[in-house]
Amino acid sequence: MEKLVSLCKRRGFIFQSSEIYGGINGFWDYGPLGVELKRNIRDAWWKAMVRDREDVVGLDASIIMHPRVWEASGHLTGFTDPMVDCKACKKRYRADQLCEELGITIETGSAEEHGFKLPPGTQCPACGSTDLTEPRDFNLMFKTFIGPVEDASSVAYLRPETAQAIFAQFNNVLSVSRQKVPFGIAQIGKAFRNEINPRNYTFRSREFEQMELEFFIKPGTDAEWHEYWVAERLRWYETIGLPSSSLHRDIHPKEKLAHYASACTDVAYEFPFGIQELEGIAARGNFDLSRHQEFSGKSMEYFDQETNEKYVPHVVEPSAGVDRIALALLCNAYAEEWVPTKDTGGEVLAADITASRPPEGYEMRTVMRFAPCIAPVKTAVFPLLKNKPELVAKAREVFEIAKACGPAFYDEGGAIGRRYRRQDEIGTPYGVTIDFDTLKDETVTLRDRDTMKQERVKIAELPALLK
Ligand code: GAP
Repeated sequence: MEKLVSLCKRRGFIFQSSEIYGGINGFWDYGPLGVELKRNIRDAWWKAMVRDREDVVGLDASIIMHPRVWEASGHLTGFTDPMVDCKACKKRYRADQLCEELGITIETGSAEEHGFKLPPGTQCPACGSTDLTEPRDFNLMFKTFIGPVEDASSVAYLRPETAQAIFAQFNNVLSVSRQKVPFGIAQIGKAFRNEINPRNYTFRSREFEQMELEFFIKPGTDAEWHEYWVAERLRWYETIGLPSSSLHRDIHPKEKLAHYASACTDVAYEFPFGIQELEGIAARGNFDLSRHQEFSGKSMEYFDQETNEKYVPHVVEPSAGVDRIALALLCNAYAEEWVPTKDTGGEVLAADITASRPPEGYEMRTVMRFAPCIAPVKTAVFPLLKNKPELVAKAREVFEIAKACGPAFYDEGGAIGRRYRRQDEIGTPYGVTIDFDTLKDETVTLRDRDTMKQERVKIAELPALLK
């Protein structure tokens, strides 16, 4: 992780928020490459979940909503984590994480209630003191005030999930979209949680982005639709380059489910710090719509014209985090290899981390093996030499062609081998070099990032090849 964090900063994927003021815990900024990576994740999700389907439509709702939304959803009373303070060193812990860290097994109650006691003698991992507070519930919602007066009547919250806006707008979307159950409403947007202990780089942040689908279904079809969405979502992760061997299905046991839920499966990824959740896929019954019906007094019933039945639809909710997927893609892409010093496409060896240096004729390269569809830059264009105006002019022409096929980067600075390495390190799948032969026969070399093999191709063939 240390190497990855350093690369992410050095190459402009991720910066600490407000770094010049010492940073702010749990908040991150995405640099020039990070922002492209995240955009590619969002676009891939939106295409698969909305544009390629006839039964899902989109929504882009406000972050701050009427506070009654959070009463109805249960977040105001139930969206809490158990917090423990060390009275000696003042370190603060999330009680369940503290137990995990100390290897203590705790019998928690139902999924909604956290209440548990720490065993006597539990020690603070930081200072060893046993003077710890009992776990107490801490609400994770960020509070703010609407308008100039800060009193109880002006309290509002930054949304802790995007999902509730979908439920609150269910009737409006249904009436304008001419959809029929089963159908879904999808949304991508920021969510905020005042996490007690943000950790593992961007994995647990206080501001993050969610991609959520609420798929409304006929009561009684929950199990089949849940299975369908688990399979769909697992398939999608492979399309963005996460191999199935690194993905896990974490099926929640029935006794750990919320009382209204009939199933929940997490898609988890093997991060360097453990197997952790990327997405939760839950069959939530009609809990959310029913609660909004109760609290707003507005009917959330759907009239099924085929069966002449009226019902409050049930829902299956695949809910993913953009930042966690970005982190998984970064971890998955990172590789260190020994490659021939002369970049001519010789055999690539996996770096042996126990050896002090590569064998004769080899050097170490760091390469980000992003799938091309997710790579921030798709093609880099290089004139062989920058002091030959005819090469530079031709390279600029080729750059325009490459740019029309996707994000491209023009680089004329330094030895060609160095320029290839710089692109390897940010995961650019293709490199196009313009040399003296180009001026004679309108061909260029096309270099593959992973094999480092180069082939000569006609400039006229480039658009089709790159696309
Ligand atoms: N509407 C359901 C919901 O919000 P969740 O499991 O709490 O469910 C869904 O969140 C996804 O949002 C998670 O799988 C994760 O990818 C992302 N997520 C949740 N909390 C996060 C945090 N503190 N930092 C980064 N991502 C987070």
